[in-house]
Amino acid sequence: MQKRIRKAVFPVAGLGTRFLPATKANPKEMLPVVDKPLVQYAAEEAIKAGIEVLIFITGRNKRSIPDHFDKAYELETELEERGKLKRLEEVQGIIPKGVTCVYIRQSEALGLGHAVSCAEAVVGDEPFAVILADDLIDCDSGTCCLGQMVEQYEQHGGSILGVERVPKEHTDRYGIVSVSNFKNRLGRLEGIVEKPKPEKAPSNLGVVGRYVLSPSIFRVLKETPPGAGGELQLTDAIARLMDEEPVYAYEFKGRRYDCGDKLGYLQATVEYGLKHPELGAAFGEYLKSMHQIRAVV
Ligand code: G1P
Repeated sequence: MQKRIRKAVFPVAGLGTRFLPATKANPKEMLPVVDKPLVQYAAEEAIKAGIEVLIFITGRNKRSIPDHFDKAYELETELEERGKLKRLEEVQGIIPKGVTCVYIRQSEALGLGHAVSCAEAVVGDEPFAVILADDLIDCDSGTCCLGQMVEQYEQHGGSILGVERVPKEHTDRYGIVSVSNFKNRLGRLEGIVEKPKPEKAPSNLGVVGRYVLSPSIFRVLKETPPGAGGELQLTDAIARLMDEEPVYAYEFKGRRYDCGDKLGYLQATVEYGLKHPELGAAFGEYLKSMHQIRAVV
């Protein structure tokens, strides 16, 4: 019987340079897709997967993240007085009862591996999840990406990386893995390299921002020297962990949007806009009319 995955780490201290100037004073994780910030989608996915403790690794300029998940007395009173009860319910339901948020400040941006290591005191000796909020993953109405990974973990144990097939020319944007015995979307990790050039990439399976990790990763991170860009890379620590314990790559079902990138963000906005229960129909009409106008011009 595997230990239950109860905690998820959200590294949110990055600078969001690909999205400047929007991210100059606002965290990229607070960019909204239609009406919810990215970090809320990530928290909802974790909660759906059974996570009870959300651990945010924050940094400078990130105060709006704890504010977003905190109680907002003035706003709630105002919404109640104005009878906007549906909106009130939405605001109050962001973090359901029984779920705890913990904030740890990472004073220097020393890499994803360093951000994860900051969570050690709160995670302790249990397996945990890591979610990168700028990877927005839509699984329609099926089990969410992290939920699928937790199910895999319950069957196989070890550590699990969420992966997807990426275009060969984009391998230098991802951790790229090589796997053996790939069956039913799962394979044993044989190698992992951070952002290789297409000609050096061992495959086209790219790691997305979803991980289930064994607590051994904390010790391994301490033994791992800084890697690409002088930063402590989670990928390098996983490459070492794989020699000690089983690590798997799991090709999730669903569609990922890279919302740290302007094009990916726009695609997510259109898709989520079209699916939105209040706006979808009108937005669809608008897109159709725009398409017709463009076709004529
Ligand atoms: C990080 C990881 C990379 C992974 C990616 C997924 O890179 O280092 O291995 O493929 O997240 O989004 P970043 O996008 O933070 O540069």
